[in-house]
Amino acid sequence: MEDKLREIEQQATSAIEKVDSLEQLEDLRVSYLGKKGAVTEILRGMGDLAPEMRPIVGKLANQVKGKIVNLIIEQEERLKEVAKNKQLAAETIDVTLPGQKQGVARKHPLTLVFDEIKEIFLGLGFQIAEGPEVEADYYNFEALNFPANHPARDMQDTFYIEGDRLLRTHTSSVQVRTIEDQEPPIRIIAPGRVYRSDEIDATHTPVFHQVEGLMIDRDISFAHLKETLIRLSKELFGADREVRFRPSYFPFTEPSAEVDISCAKCDGGGCKLCSGTGWLEILGSGLVHPNVLEMSGVDSKEYSGFAFGMGVERIAMLKYGIDDIRLLYDNDLRFLKQF
Ligand code: PHE
Repeated sequence: MEDKLREIEQQATSAIEKVDSLEQLEDLRVSYLGKKGAVTEILRGMGDLAPEMRPIVGKLANQVKGKIVNLIIEQEERLKEVAKNKQLAAETIDVTLPGQKQGVARKHPLTLVFDEIKEIFLGLGFQIAEGPEVEADYYNFEALNFPANHPARDMQDTFYIEGDRLLRTHTSSVQVRTIEDQEPPIRIIAPGRVYRSDEIDATHTPVFHQVEGLMIDRDISFAHLKETLIRLSKELFGADREVRFRPSYFPFTEPSAEVDISCAKCDGGGCKLCSGTGWLEILGSGLVHPNVLEMSGVDSKEYSGFAFGMGVERIAMLKYGIDDIRLLYDNDLRFLKQF
């Protein structure tokens, strides 16, 4: 019996040392210590032994059992440690891998110009107004003193939706909506998208942007208009640009003026950019026509006002020296990265 136990002890020790999985270890535990395990069988067979042998064999069997239990626990801990390390190794993140570079976003040149114009007018106490792009004929033309069949409508052909709905040709429609809604004094600018059915070329797109301006109060004169627009021109294009007011015509302003700045390229001497004139047109303006005020319910004997409207693409092209309007819409990063 004693020899048998020694043999079991040796076998178990070397078998436990060799296992390399928790499942194998469990199998070994069952085969030695389970209900039908080798050690259990011996302990169970104690009754058949001579009485004087029982304490000796019993003691040894318990020693062997204890040793096997300890070996199994040690081996179990070791295997769990190995498994944990293996898992940790599999889950590590290599923080030394270079990350994916994120491009830095920039503002589109049109947004830059919008922002600059807004900044200038917010500083002068103007507020920002908005109106719909799908507009009624009334707001786009009629209430701006372009009656049906007025020849000036020809210069602003647009896209017609249904009935009297059309895509607005200018932000001047926001003037009318504002005059209807607000009591003077009014000081607003209206930035937004406008439409005309023009062929696409280097200076035209059927969708473009404008910023409208409107100021209405008592005793507003052409002097206020001039001062405001000279300020704007110099802030946008630099203090050394000359500004000139050239008589013009719009049905909704009287008198009307187009504003030109001296050409920065030739300093007014005349070049290809300014078609030899030395001047570049930047916007249209004038004193609000009394008919416009009256149609929207403002007493033109008590109040007067000035208005102006500028094309944002045109300003951006002049400011940044862009020679083709289509560059503003191509989304070519090589172009856009320059701003
Ligand atoms: N709405 C005019 C245009 O688009 C510009 C303008 C606005 C002129 C306000 C005078 C006053 O051409």
